[in-house]
Amino acid sequence: KVVAVIMVGGPTKGTSFRSVSLQTPKPLFPLAGQPMVQHPIYACRRIPNLSQIFLIGFYDEGDFTLYVSSISNELKVPVRYLQEDKPHGSAGGLYYFRNLIMEDSPTHIFILNCDVCCSFPLPEMIDAHRRYGGMGTILVVKVSTESANEFGELVADPISNELLHYTEKPETFVSDLINCGIYVFTPEILTVIHKLSIHREEKANMANLPSGDAFGYSIRRANLPKDFFRLDQDILSPLAGKKQLYTYETMDFWEQIKTPGMSLRCSALYLSQYHQTSPHLLSYGDNKGASATIVGDVYIHPSAKVHPTAKIGPNVSIAANVRVGAGVRLLDCIILDNVELQENAVVICSIIGWKSCLGQWTRVQGDGDHKSKCGTTILGEGVTVEDEVVVVNSIVLPHKILNYSVQDDIIL
Ligand code: GDD
Repeated sequence: KVVAVIMVGGPTKGTSFRSVSLQTPKPLFPLAGQPMVQHPIYACRRIPNLSQIFLIGFYDEGDFTLYVSSISNELKVPVRYLQEDKPHGSAGGLYYFRNLIMEDSPTHIFILNCDVCCSFPLPEMIDAHRRYGGMGTILVVKVSTESANEFGELVADPISNELLHYTEKPETFVSDLINCGIYVFTPEILTVIHKLSIHREEKANMANLPSGDAFGYSIRRANLPKDFFRLDQDILSPLAGKKQLYTYETMDFWEQIKTPGMSLRCSALYLSQYHQTSPHLLSYGDNKGASATIVGDVYIHPSAKVHPTAKIGPNVSIAANVRVGAGVRLLDCIILDNVELQENAVVICSIIGWKSCLGQWTRVQGDGDHKSKCGTTILGEGVTVEDEVVVVNSIVLPHKILNYSVQDDIIL
């Protein structure tokens, strides 16, 4: 049997995602019309002998109760949310719930970061993992030299694929091959974390930690709590080059979703993937009663009402109960539930929060720089933009009424 663990993290202060996802935990924020976490969950359906999926995080359990019960019913595989009482780090959560995870005596454990967008080649990974015969296999990808230092950089043996060297977000360039945040391990990973925890107890009790000891050095330097374990720095780094960890390189798309702007980019990638995986989710203008002009990849929830003279796409996701008026133009945007877009409103490179209302001839636009802070215009929940008002490269917090135009601003 195989289990999958998706690390969903928890609410963190001051992240740029907060302005828009305030009312919903980031893992449930919709990308291409489906909660972010649903993309890896659906990918898990392809894992042979999958017995359970666990979501581990420190969000309130109540945020996930409805979601996990409906997705469990749909998948016919139990999906459970396990709530940590505090952050234990990307490997600590796994260790904290080890008894539940080992309930079915799985032979393999997948660990997936929730905030990555990719094609999740999980069956291919487990096949490769079996061939390598190590304790763990990491999904890796080549990125541009300039962006590599945002991730864990690594060196792998070109023939055996063994992980030879690993450095988390290094200051000086090591390699353009990076850690995708998707792993498969044998249950031995839990023994490794257990040993590390014992090691930490012992070392924490000693006044002077010996240098040259990888585990001891990392806790002393970071001054971490004894039950906090990071998969990357605390496990992968010290185990590199010991014939225990291997890499599987994906040639497919891969992105990390840390900013709302990246959620637009990832929505586009998932919409494009629907051509292979779920073509029924794509709108083609003549289906679902939407006679509007559809350009490129567009998702429209069946309950949304779209005027036939609207022009929509590419890369647009329209959620439940949205009303799109006559002459509206939508491009590269996510429109959340219950939004009203009145006649001739234009939305480009933007995210429009739940229950917001855009008046006639309004224009809400970002400059399309997915990585910059205000490159995507974001309206929080329940924002009203009055007729003819223009909002450019701005973030508007929930429940504001805008009766004047703004540019490059954050409206608190
Ligand atoms: N449950 C739980 N508890 N989840 C956590 C915790 C925790 O205490 N801390 C982090 N996570 C989850 C996050 O939600 C995310 O899905 C994953 O663990 C990794 O988060 P971080 O440890 O903050 O690392 P990162 O996202 O900056 O970078 C990691 O992922 C990159 C790929 O996206 C590193 O492993 C990089 O090397 C890697 O390139």
